[in-house]
Amino acid sequence: MAEKHGSSITRKSFFCLFMATTMLFVSSWLFVLRSTSRPNFFDRTLFPNEKLLTIFNNGHSESSSQSNVESSNGSSRAILANNEKDHEEGEGEEPPKREVGFQDKDGAANCNGNVKEPLKVFMYDLDPEFHFGLLGWKPEGGSSVWPDIRTRIPSYPGGLNLQHSIEYWLTLDLLASEFSDNPNNRAAIRVQNSSEADLIFVPFFSSLSYNRFSKVNPHQKKNRNKVLQAKLVRFLTAQKEWKRSGGRDHIVMAHHPNSMLDARMQLWPAMFILSDFGRYPINIANVDKDVIAPYKHVIKSYVNDTSDFDSRKTLLFFQGAIYRKDGGYARQELYYLLRGEKDVHFSFGSVQKDGVNKASQGMHSSKFCLNIAGDTPSSNRLFDAIASHCVPVIISDEIELPYEDVLDYSQFCIFVRTSDALKERFLVNLVRSIKKEGWTRMWEKLKEVESSFEFQYPSKEGDAVQMIWQAVARKAPAVKMKINKSRRFSRSVPRKERGLRTIPSPSNFW
Ligand SMILES: *[C@@H]1O[C@H](CO)[C@@H](O)[C@H](O)[C@H]1NC(C)=O
Ligand SMILES: *[C@@H]1O[C@H](CO)[C@@H](O)[C@H](O)[C@H]1NC(C)=O
Ligand SMILES: *[C@@H]1O[C@H](CO)[C@@H](O)[C@H](O)[C@H]1NC(C)=O
Ligand SMILES: *[C@@H]1O[C@H](CO)[C@@H](O)[C@H](O)[C@H]1NC(C)=O
Repeated sequence: MAEKHGSSITRKSFFCLFMATTMLFVSSWLFVLRSTSRPNFFDRTLFPNEKLLTIFNNGHSESSSQSNVESSNGSSRAILANNEKDHEEGEGEEPPKREVGFQDKDGAANCNGNVKEPLKVFMYDLDPEFHFGLLGWKPEGGSSVWPDIRTRIPSYPGGLNLQHSIEYWLTLDLLASEFSDNPNNRAAIRVQNSSEADLIFVPFFSSLSYNRFSKVNPHQKKNRNKVLQAKLVRFLTAQKEWKRSGGRDHIVMAHHPNSMLDARMQLWPAMFILSDFGRYPINIANVDKDVIAPYKHVIKSYVNDTSDFDSRKTLLFFQGAIYRKDGGYARQELYYLLRGEKDVHFSFGSVQKDGVNKASQGMHSSKFCLNIAGDTPSSNRLFDAIASHCVPVIISDEIELPYEDVLDYSQFCIFVRTSDALKERFLVNLVRSIKKEGWTRMWEKLKEVESSFEFQYPSKEGDAVQMIWQAVARKAPAVKMKINKSRRFSRSVPRKERGLRTIPSPSNFW
């Protein structure tokens, strides 16, 4: 019995095993058959999100599927997507966040449609030696701190000084806001009571101070630039406004990379307005806390630009110093890679006096303008290219761009990683692959956005002055939260330790 019972179990289980194996065999055979005969169908059913995956992993696939879908204007999109791929190729550590920018065609226009209240700014009445005094202005009669801009506006020195002149334009704009008929047309207004202000503005013309006064005169121990910085730190840290916030709600302008060299180490809780972060430790200045402002271009704007792809004969234009220290080695390498190309123009030396006219002509008659990192990640060349409607080709891995939260630079710039740019023929092939339609689209976008990089007095809606104020205003809520947060333990923790917590740990501090 036991034996018979046992054998029936064995027979039964053998049968089951046989059936299962057969099923497995048949289904796998079917699988092979179907996947060879109808690959597309099978792929789709197995991976319903295949298209999504391709879009996120492979820019090339996206470009081909897009040009299928929109054959009418797909080709320029395909070019953009290709650039995107070039930008992403190799490392892949960046999430494909730009994807959003392609759909959001009006991304740049959002910043124009602001009908919000202007930012309320309190400005310290600093001694004129910190601002207009540096321009040679002297208080006229009385003890006035500020020039009466309704009668005469002191002028800022020209030449290369101008590229860092944001300090001048922002200060003028605040002064002008007091005489404004319609404050709601402004991005920022001056308030006299600091308790009512969103932010506190420090009107020190630090770039001019660096450019003009950082040499030591024989009879001085310290140069004037250093003396002013030390004085400023002493003044600020003694103010009730600074003590109230630990400086977090203060706006300090330091556009020249070497300006505020001493004071930045004491004033860093403040929001800096900078050209880039190249010479700053990350805990002293970073994208979260600070604002990047454009350089004022030194090349003439291209008014009534009627050029087109064919009339701009030079393919690629570069003007600048070549043998640079620090990050600048790429310039030299690129020069050797590109010097054999007939329609590539490389010229050396900085843009000054006579050079401005030549560079203007050069940029106005080129399709693409190279921006290669020099001894800092940024330079005024990018803004010269924008003003010339010469599509910028940016080779600067560490560059940070003004108002990038509201402006999608990939619509009018081409980004190339330094490691890619230094590959034989990579850059030339890339640039040559962009045809008339794709180029024209970027050229049109450049003409659309150029006003966002224009400094002027009085400021106009959407110009550089107002765009900077708006970028500052977007940081204001986070500043207020940081201040409120820093008060959490103010009863139990010594004052001086307050507020270090939200800033990245000092990995490369000093
Ligand atoms: C591009 O395609 C969009 C939507 O398909 C269409 O509205 C637009 O007019 C097209 N532009 C050109 C230049 O063909
Ligand atoms: C400044 O504003 C605060 C809050 O609105 C108010 O309490 C204070 O009296 C004002 N100070 C002056 C000098 O008007
Ligand atoms: C540009 O065109 C406008 C309108 O046609 C004209 O008034 C202006 O003078 C031109 N500007 C230049 C610099 O050519
Ligand atoms: C911070 O606290 C003040 C009250 O002192 C409050 O008015 C303000 O809304 C708070 N800020 C934020 C961002 O919560």
